[in-house]
Amino acid sequence: MAEIHRASFPPDEAWGPDAFALQLGLPGVFALLDETGGFLLARVTMDEAEVLTLAVQPDARQRGTGRRLLVAAMQEAGRDGARTMFLEVSAINNAARNLYETSGFRQVGLRRRYYADGSDALVMRRPITSGAPASA
Ligand SMILES: CC(C)(COP(=O)(O)OP(=O)(O)OC[C@H]1O[C@@H](n2cnc3c(N)ncnc32)[C@H](O)[C@@H]1OP(=O)(O)O)[C@@H](O)C(=O)NCCC(=O)NCCS
Repeated sequence: MAEIHRASFPPDEAWGPDAFALQLGLPGVFALLDETGGFLLARVTMDEAEVLTLAVQPDARQRGTGRRLLVAAMQEAGRDGARTMFLEVSAINNAARNLYETSGFRQVGLRRRYYADGSDALVMRRPITSGAPASA
């Protein structure tokens, strides 16, 4: 996961193996790995799930891996009791914004100049419907 993260984010935002190990030791945190070279880390707290990070290695992108991981994370979080999922995404990250918008997420907040590059973070959220497939 650290390797894919390093290839996917600016150097000052990359999480090393220790950061992943720490996260995975926290209550409610789970990781999903995709054999094509992608992963998603999420946390369920009571009835709310948060996507902590999601990345697909550059040469495996645009083949459906990111969406597959997101759908699987909603299903897993729903099984763990979550009724909504939220996340933060940079306003200038068009690939991720498209993925989330076409997966049913809507903007519910804005954190100005949240990231190291000065970009704003959009807070996005969508309901998780228990029993139903977690599609858009
Ligand atoms: C965002 C990311 C995880 C998407 O993974 P992916 O496997 O390429 O995504 P998918 O192939 O499942 O594409 C799903 C949707 O995302 C959007 N998308 C993906 N790549 C895109 C691009 N380069 N430009 C615009 N939209 C894009 C499209 O809406 C796409 O749906 P479509 O195929 O029906 O058009 C990947 O680009 C990535 O790892 N980026 C770097 C890390 C990152 O930004 N993580 C998210 C942090 S919030």
